[in-house]
Amino acid sequence: MIKIAIFGFGAVGQGVAEVLLNKRDALRRLIGDFRVVAITDSKGGIADENGVDLLKALEIKRKRKRLPEGITTLDVINSLDFDVCIEATVTNIEHGEPGLTHIKECLKRGVDVITSNKGPLVVAYRELADLADRKDAKLMFEATVGGAMPIIKLVKNDLAGNEIYAIKGILNGTCNYILSRMEKEKLSYDQILAEAKELGIAEADPTYDVEGIDAAAKLVIIANSLMDMDVKFEDVERIGITNITPEAFEVAMDKGYTIRLIAEVDKVERILRVSPRLIPIQHPLAISGTLNAALIKTDLAGDIVVVGKGAGSKETASAIISDLIELYRC
Ligand code: HSE
Repeated sequence: MIKIAIFGFGAVGQGVAEVLLNKRDALRRLIGDFRVVAITDSKGGIADENGVDLLKALEIKRKRKRLPEGITTLDVINSLDFDVCIEATVTNIEHGEPGLTHIKECLKRGVDVITSNKGPLVVAYRELADLADRKDAKLMFEATVGGAMPIIKLVKNDLAGNEIYAIKGILNGTCNYILSRMEKEKLSYDQILAEAKELGIAEADPTYDVEGIDAAAKLVIIANSLMDMDVKFEDVERIGITNITPEAFEVAMDKGYTIRLIAEVDKVERILRVSPRLIPIQHPLAISGTLNAALIKTDLAGDIVVVGKGAGSKETASAIISDLIELYRC
């Protein structure tokens, strides 16, 4: 019996609970029997070692916006027996909290961790990976980069044995949505940002998106976890999209180019950068809407391109569930 605790019950945590509920039988065939023994949010939580009623938890959250007060995440970590935590609290890339403490405390106890939270990995990837090794626990983080777009396990598993020279891509769906709308409809930046917020994929503070902070955080995770680098957020050269105008697209389009916010790490050329770049309109990275894409340059496999939905409750849950299956496949 796999016992799961979910920390953070916003769009991602709820998306995971829905999948665990709706795909219960299919998942049981893949990983064996499981139950969720605790769910917490920033205000409280529900715990039951015999299994939390997921449908009821989702209903409570939707009706009252918060779980019952009285149980904290640290209470759960300190007093409950569970095998894996799904850490889906809000990202803070300055100090990584509260997720950083949740992850450390779980790993210290030998509990496996699956996280969608970028903050702890940006702040302390190496420390957390070493701690996981020492405690014989697993740290899984497919959901931190590219939402449903496979990249972390793709590189670690399917491209195992390759050296990764460079990864260049579109790692922020909000910016890509804004730029592709600007390109097609000649609308101003402010008009489209308001619509992007309504789509629900923008960060709680959308300056994280439009100033390239979110993409830079994902780039740091990629560089450190997939390319054996040791870089910090401050090492990323970063320019956002706030100064791009519809007129800039007209000039670019005349010459056969579009403009996209490109995140790029190149070990050979020593590049670690997020910036708006001219991309030929036929190029695989010239994608539109909220999609993400990555061009992975390797020594054996050559170039690999992946494209997929970079955000959203269901899409991020897809990445988390794939980590869960990778950990416990029978
Ligand atoms: N705000 C992010 C984006 C969400 O637009 O890509 C996924 O990290």
